[in-house]
Amino acid sequence: MEDTFKPKIVVFCCNWCAYAGGDLAGISRYQIKPYFRVIRTLCSARVDPEWIMEAFRLGADGVMVAGCHPGDCHYIGGNYRTRRRVALLRSLLQQFGLNPQRLELAWISAGEAEKFASTMNSFIDRITELGPSPYSKSLDDDTQSTSVAMEVADV
Ligand code: FES
Repeated sequence: MEDTFKPKIVVFCCNWCAYAGGDLAGISRYQIKPYFRVIRTLCSARVDPEWIMEAFRLGADGVMVAGCHPGDCHYIGGNYRTRRRVALLRSLLQQFGLNPQRLELAWISAGEAEKFASTMNSFIDRITELGPSPYSKSLDDDTQSTSVAMEVADV
């Protein structure tokens, strides 16, 4: 892959665990590659599957949903729903010509700063290795239009 490729990664973090873990990673000065943007939600289950697909449509090379560990969701069973949705979405990504490895699910508690950093870095490495999403490539090729060519594929 080109040395210049800087992936665009969207990370949906639940407020109570993953976001706090990321905050602690920053406070603890863990080194994380700067190719991601965090969107905070109250629970991982709040992440509508449409938001994930919209992120890919708008050019994200990878999307991660990060929440509390199973059994620790502050809304009882939200993250169990998230786990089922992400599994379903992964199979759908293939139908849309996207490698399912571009979507990641992670369980990170508020105290797991090191895990937040290592999870982010390894996901960023994976996406860098996969290269640009075919959707982001098609947007780069045609900046006048946000329509996505359906024949693109990287699976
Ligand atoms: S509150 Fe964190 S996953 Fe539900």
